[in-house]
Amino acid sequence: MSIPPRFLDEIRSRLSLSDIIGKRVKVTRAGREHKACCPFHREKTPSFTINDDKGFYHCFGCGAHGDVIGFVMQHDNLSFIDAVGILSAEAGLQMPAPDPAQERQAEKSRGLYELMDEACAWFTARLQDTAHEDVLTYLEKRGLEEESRARFRIGFAPADGQALRAYLQQAGFRDEDMIEAGVIKPSAKGGAPYAFFRDRVMFPVTDRRGRVVAFGGRTLPEDMRPPGRDGFKPPKYINSSDTPLFDKGRMLYAESIARQAAREGHSLIVTEGYMDVIACHSAGFKGAVAPMGTALTEEQILSLWSMMEYNDKMPILCFDGDNAGRRAASRACERILPLLKPGKGVRFAFLPEGEDPDSLLRSSGRQGLQAILASSLSLFDFLWAAHTTGRNFDTPESRAGLDKDLQKVVSAMADTEIQRHYKALIRSRISEAFFKPYQSQRNGGPSIKRPAGSPASGVKIRSARWDKTILWEKVLLAAVLNHPYVYPNLDEDFGNFPITSPRLNALRQKVITILEEEPDLESPDLQHKLRAEGFAQEIDDILNESVYVHAAFCKPDGALSGAVGSATNSMDIGSWFRVRDGLVDKDYKQENRQGWRQAVVQASSEDDEEKLKSMMRARTSEEL
Ligand code: UTP
Ligand code: MN
Repeated sequence: MSIPPRFLDEIRSRLSLSDIIGKRVKVTRAGREHKACCPFHREKTPSFTINDDKGFYHCFGCGAHGDVIGFVMQHDNLSFIDAVGILSAEAGLQMPAPDPAQERQAEKSRGLYELMDEACAWFTARLQDTAHEDVLTYLEKRGLEEESRARFRIGFAPADGQALRAYLQQAGFRDEDMIEAGVIKPSAKGGAPYAFFRDRVMFPVTDRRGRVVAFGGRTLPEDMRPPGRDGFKPPKYINSSDTPLFDKGRMLYAESIARQAAREGHSLIVTEGYMDVIACHSAGFKGAVAPMGTALTEEQILSLWSMMEYNDKMPILCFDGDNAGRRAASRACERILPLLKPGKGVRFAFLPEGEDPDSLLRSSGRQGLQAILASSLSLFDFLWAAHTTGRNFDTPESRAGLDKDLQKVVSAMADTEIQRHYKALIRSRISEAFFKPYQSQRNGGPSIKRPAGSPASGVKIRSARWDKTILWEKVLLAAVLNHPYVYPNLDEDFGNFPITSPRLNALRQKVITILEEEPDLESPDLQHKLRAEGFAQEIDDILNESVYVHAAFCKPDGALSGAVGSATNSMDIGSWFRVRDGLVDKDYKQENRQGWRQAVVQASSEDDEEKLKSMMRARTSEEL
């Protein structure tokens, strides 16, 4: 839709730029101009100036420059049309409609938006009815505090099928509009139309501009609702059908909030449900969104990317850690491959089995989810893991098969630049894994193990077997499982270490959860708890000679056990992992420590336990 320049001028002349900016950032007067700390780059002293007479702002710090429409586009992370829409409303102007038919449609939509907003207000008011006190109690029990209820305009649709209709009629809305908006539906039995949502907790869905366009409704728990006839069990959630205002496949729950959060630097987190989004939000993950009962569509993926224009963090898609979750992740991957563009990708996070972000936040708090997000896999690593986990590549045929599978994945990508980079990465990963063990990744191939920009350590890894990522993961886990006391000093390293196997990743998360709660737990108790949580298989896989043979120090009676001063030991293990990882800590860069570090790596790759022990002691005295 094109907008006549006259209309834009009218907006600019009616609105004061400093007013509009002042609603979003703190503005102070300075003579004829206004000043502010620039919202588009970090600064402590204001270099952002606003000239109301000319209708322009300019930042002397970062060069940001524009008029009122540009400001709202950039600040609120909106498209031109959306920004003009918001500003014309503020200026008391009607957006021009290019022809009479569109004019009528626009008029009608306006009516529907009002209707939806009115319905939303009515649902939220129902939570205050004394008759529905138990619903409020249920919401509180689920952690939906006053603040989130207000932020997300949570409401309740009572069982009475006529109450909303009567209210909206009285407010001047017609049945046919209520039907079009999807809040009531015609009766199949010839009776009066009746409410679409009955006896459900209501989650309003808003569009980019924050206008209510649809609802999701959740049943009350079974003990709070009358038994269904003939044992009928209603679906847990129902969502509005598509309407002139609502296109389920294009929109995301909490999109308008996330769009703003993304601009402020938050990561976008794609969860599965309404409750997840709200729980994430209360825990400070303000970039959380969710599709509404469907798998992520192409349009939704593109919409996520459009939110990241001022933010180079990739959206993180959350999945269940079970088989179904992995399959869902593979399907999402298939949908995303053709869409990949330079700078536009996604990451994959796997939750412990049976948990969603909402339940995880309740059981393990902010850190629990943070750890999961921090250990999310890049698209490439997810693909690699999906194609290699649990498979054996001992023969040239099986390796060629892997190569072929991965090439097929690449051919699903539409962007040739992306293809080129994936091909290169596949080549280097395959040769690293199977052919050039001694060079590891020290020669600059891109890899999760060494984020771009971090210094290459120059350390040559001697032992071929070290380069099998999976073994790395097992060694790390074995060290902590057998010697939990090292965890407190490791913690970030332990949480951030890239783990490609989703099951081992889930195990790692569980270990974090348990040890955060009971830091003094001894190894047998820790293992016992993990087995009870369903990780018996993984533990047996890790705690055995096939792993110890590569890293004797993590044995139950290995170099990490008792004798040597414990805290320093675990610090050393931490640095050791960082070295392994190519993530060389600044502290360890100093010349005099270089030799020590190399020696440790050398010793551990040669499994020289005595040597390692003595070096750890040497390090201890050096530090003291
Ligand atoms: P879940 O069944 O995982 O529910 O559905 P949940 O989000 O964890 O909700 P709580 O914690 O039990 O309250 C995830 C999402 O799938 C859609 C909804 O959008 C829901 O939030 N869904 C689920 C439906 O559309 N219909 C259903 O019957 C169930
Ligand atoms: Mn849930």
